[in-house]
Amino acid sequence: MRPKTDKLLKIKGVKDVLPDEAYFWQQLEQVARSVFERYQFGEIRIPTFEKTEVFVRSIGENSDIVEKEMYTLKDRGGDSLTLRPEGTAPVVRAYVEEKLFNDPSVNRLYYMGPMFRAERPQAGRQRQFHQIGAEVFGSNDPSIDAELILMLFDFFYTLRIEGLELRLNSLGCPNCRPGYREKLLGFLRKHIDELCDDCNRRVEKNPFRVLDCKSINCQKATEKAPTIDNNRCSPCEQHFTQTISLLEGSKIPINLDPKLVRGLDYYSNTAFEVKSASLGAQDAIAGGGRYNGLVEQFGGPSTPAIGFALGVERLLTLLDKTKFVEKKPDAYLISLESRCEDTIFNLTKTLREQKLSVERGIEHGSLKSQMRKANRSGAKFAVIVGLEELSSSMAIVKNMEDGEQKTVLLDEVSRIIGQ
Ligand code: HAM
Repeated sequence: MRPKTDKLLKIKGVKDVLPDEAYFWQQLEQVARSVFERYQFGEIRIPTFEKTEVFVRSIGENSDIVEKEMYTLKDRGGDSLTLRPEGTAPVVRAYVEEKLFNDPSVNRLYYMGPMFRAERPQAGRQRQFHQIGAEVFGSNDPSIDAELILMLFDFFYTLRIEGLELRLNSLGCPNCRPGYREKLLGFLRKHIDELCDDCNRRVEKNPFRVLDCKSINCQKATEKAPTIDNNRCSPCEQHFTQTISLLEGSKIPINLDPKLVRGLDYYSNTAFEVKSASLGAQDAIAGGGRYNGLVEQFGGPSTPAIGFALGVERLLTLLDKTKFVEKKPDAYLISLESRCEDTIFNLTKTLREQKLSVERGIEHGSLKSQMRKANRSGAKFAVIVGLEELSSSMAIVKNMEDGEQKTVLLDEVSRIIGQ
């Protein structure tokens, strides 16, 4: 349905992906699957919507996502449902409800698909965007943290994306984080007048977020703020040091950033983001970290876990598309007269049965205009049937690269174009 006015129907911050672009999505998804499967991850397909409490409880009531970015609706039964703004909470919900903790072989999961956040749309920020994510359950060993980050960069490097930087921090745990929170609060209360309106609101509810504010004034005001660096307990410090040392031999550029906090409340210990200098304001291409308490919070047994998610649209803007050559058809079939159409239809069918990729011209204009279309399709061969060829069960096969053409029996066409 097309509206009569100029007003379009598409929602702001939502995109159509047309076939030319979808090709690159498929390549990217295929590379993700093959890399993740090498690391023994299995796919999980989570629902697109969940009960609202799944997100409120885990992401945190005072987070930006829960406070102002969720698409929430009441269903007919009166339940409050929310379009998933991220994948970790649904995966943890499934992990607990499907009792995956009983099967130690199912502890590495990946997912891909659309997420929804009612943010102000701008370059690199949509309301429906896509993530590819991975989660590992059941171990608090630093080698898992390092391995997961290595897998993420293995994926980026397989796609030949360079110029990325890992921002890495450890947020501490329920033993050391509350003490640090108090110190930070004490500092921020003294500088409250220097902070932006948003941060004024955040100070008491979620002081950590003030450290990550983009406003220059807030950044200046928090220059001397206490950081988590000198405030971690010794198990947290040890975990962090070991994670860093396991990553040090790799070619990943690491930027230890004690001011990195994440916008979701479930994190503890390791937290990270991957940034690209070529992305502009929305420069985070991926983010992740540990959430050792979340499975238990959902009613499961105490199970440490860690994961990441990357933004597909942002990644696509970094992809050098020339490195991914689109598959062109093997042949473009042309009928010069309506009486030749059945022959072309049947020949197309036969060639496809032989697993050849074939495009059939569906209107017959002049030979010149049809050849132009064949050329535009990028096909290796054009196969042409006119009245003369029809009468002798033959077809003209033209090699589009060197221009050579021959007239052959219909039965021989597949052998020639399949070579
Ligand atoms: P997140 O940092 O909120 O983490 O999102 C991960 C990535 O999704 C971002 O780095 C960005 O590339 C992309 N992204 C987020 N919002 C938008 C948007 N509005 N438009 C375009 N791209 C966007 C999470 O979602 C966590 N669940 C990651 C995680 C998994 N942590 C542990 N496991």
